Amino acid sequence: SNTDSYQAWLQYRPIGTKKEEYKKWLTAIEVNEESQILESAAAELKKGIHSMLGVTLVPDNSAEGHIILGTYEQMDLKQYGISPEVFRDVTDEGYVLKSVFEKEERAVLLIGKTDRGALYAAFHLLRLLQKEVPIDSLEVVESPRNQFRMINQWDNMDGSIERGYAGQSIFYVDNDFNEDLTRVKDYARLLASVGINAISINNVNVWDVETKLVTKAFLPKVKAVSAIFAAYGIRSFLSINFASPMELGGLGTADPLSPEVEKWWKDKVAEIYEYIPDFGGFIVKADSEGRPGPFTYDRGHVEGANVLAKALKPFEGKVIWRCFVYNHLQDWRDRSTDRARAAYDHFKPLDGKFLENVILQIKNGPMDFQVREPVSPLLGAMKQTNQMLEFQIAQEYTGQQIDVCYLIPQWKEVLDFDTYTKGEGSTIKSIVDGTLHGYQYSGIAAVSNIGDDGNWTGHTLAQANLYGYGRLIWNPERTTEEITKDWIHLTFGYDPDVVDAVEYILLHSWKVYEKYTAPLGIGWMVNPNHHYGPNVDGYEYSKWGTYHFADRDGIGVDRTVETGTGYSSQYEEPNAKVYDSLELCPDELLLFFHHVPYSHRLKSGETVIQHIYTTHFEGVEEVETFIAKWNGIEGKVDNAVFENVKQRLKKQRDNAIEWRDQVNTYFYRKSGIPDQQNRTIHP
Ligand code: GCU
Repeated sequence: SNTDSYQAWLQYRPIGTKKEEYKKWLTAIEVNEESQILESAAAELKKGIHSMLGVTLVPDNSAEGHIILGTYEQMDLKQYGISPEVFRDVTDEGYVLKSVFEKEERAVLLIGKTDRGALYAAFHLLRLLQKEVPIDSLEVVESPRNQFRMINQWDNMDGSIERGYAGQSIFYVDNDFNEDLTRVKDYARLLASVGINAISINNVNVWDVETKLVTKAFLPKVKAVSAIFAAYGIRSFLSINFASPMELGGLGTADPLSPEVEKWWKDKVAEIYEYIPDFGGFIVKADSEGRPGPFTYDRGHVEGANVLAKALKPFEGKVIWRCFVYNHLQDWRDRSTDRARAAYDHFKPLDGKFLENVILQIKNGPMDFQVREPVSPLLGAMKQTNQMLEFQIAQEYTGQQIDVCYLIPQWKEVLDFDTYTKGEGSTIKSIVDGTLHGYQYSGIAAVSNIGDDGNWTGHTLAQANLYGYGRLIWNPERTTEEITKDWIHLTFGYDPDVVDAVEYILLHSWKVYEKYTAPLGIGWMVNPNHHYGPNVDGYEYSKWGTYHFADRDGIGVDRTVETGTGYSSQYEEPNAKVYDSLELCPDELLLFFHHVPYSHRLKSGETVIQHIYTTHFEGVEEVETFIAKWNGIEGKVDNAVFENVKQRLKKQRDNAIEWRDQVNTYFYRKSGIPDQQNRTIHP
């Protein structure tokens, strides 16, 4: 099939057998209200339907088969057999999608509670058409489960992207905005099509030039970018520099309790809203990895976040305050400091003290987006403080979009995790959708994986992570299989061999990546700074607090209460007990919680050292299987896409071999225990 990788999952490829049937329904379009968002929706329907059916939708409401696009208040619902009651339970971004065939009149209704809902309905219909689903008796009622469905760009204004693996920024070049914003618009389409409704457009590390984004020098351009996103229902946010009152305002302090600082932020926020009335607010990385924050002035996160929240409140703006706060100047000899504890220790005591328009953003794990980590115990632990969850779509520690690593299964495990914070059933998904604690604002954010590469994500299969992120957070009940199949169908079509091969690779990829990298939840073992490729001791004696403590006797971090850092006690029971116990702790997290001898027997029946050897041999073998599967569909997928993935799989194989050999050699040398199966430990 033809796949234009730039179009990603919005291929709109000509459809087959259903074509004549669809044409009866789709000849014209009636839009029942004027709005930018409805214009975007109509434009997308015209584009998609023209491309799939060869039909040019005309503006007409009397045509035989037509689409009615709009909001429920402007519509005579009864005429179409829809009870207005239906919309009572639909949220602002929800919609009804219904087809009606009456008195020779065919109509497809795309009715949003607001225009944003109608936009999502339009994308829903386009998906159904591309999947060639019958549309003659549609009756869909949908609302997103999460309020904030956000993307964080880590783009710098020099055009680089922190942890970017797909080229340069589509937003910035040479310390300014890109003049050509075509790609920003196409990005907005991609994001809206999977339900994203918020974006922060600059890196959380706010350097000199980016600090000036909130000044007259750049606000007109921020406004232009915001307008592009707004037309697709996406609200824009900026990452800000906490020291702005000094760096921009020339004040002698950024102390959040200083009246002049408070006034400075008030004026600054008012100025931003003059340019961008629907501005979302600020995202803040403060007192984290050396960035400025309230600690300098002997103040805490509450004072820091609240001074911004006060300024934003009159405009309904939000402060998204990141909890990625830890001591990044640690000494490996100091066994009592534990980076995993940090976020909880810092923030849990502050519950109830933040203003209502503050949302704490918490990474899914207590460390930093490793292939395997426990779920952060801070999530849900603050019952009176709005929280949102942070994922990383960018594959910083999971193969950097050279290696394939499909993250939906990992994210699903996080969302399904039961914290027990209000008894059984206190899942992460019920915390971040706001229902468990009744948060006023909550949701999910994720670090984007796109850049200006032709296919957006470097590795074409990495598009599945961006697509899947949106679809999963719209409705966390959706299964991995469903999301994966949808993405494959929309991107590649229906050839069963292609579907099988791609599905196999995606669904196995996370576990395979885990097998050939750091074992049993220990994390890191990567090359310093860039984080790609193996280096077992790469971070072992550095200041970052990420150690495996391997010696000749054993490996792992003791985070138990009796003999370790006590991190396990940050969980509610029974999780605390499970993690604390050597017998109960799940294998995949064993070394995160316990320091054990290499001869320690896992639940799987294997010893730790044998597990290390075996998984590393298997990891490489499974990458070979990926290669065989992919090669098997040559000629059945677009050639450019085929080559892109083929090249990357080759590099993945090299990487997996390097990991296998470094890890196996290191632990053979440390432990002196040979492989039971006598396989060659390559030097
Ligand atoms: C990681 C990442 C940094 C990033 C940081 C953050 O440590 O390596 O590049 O700035 O996370 O999330 O703030």
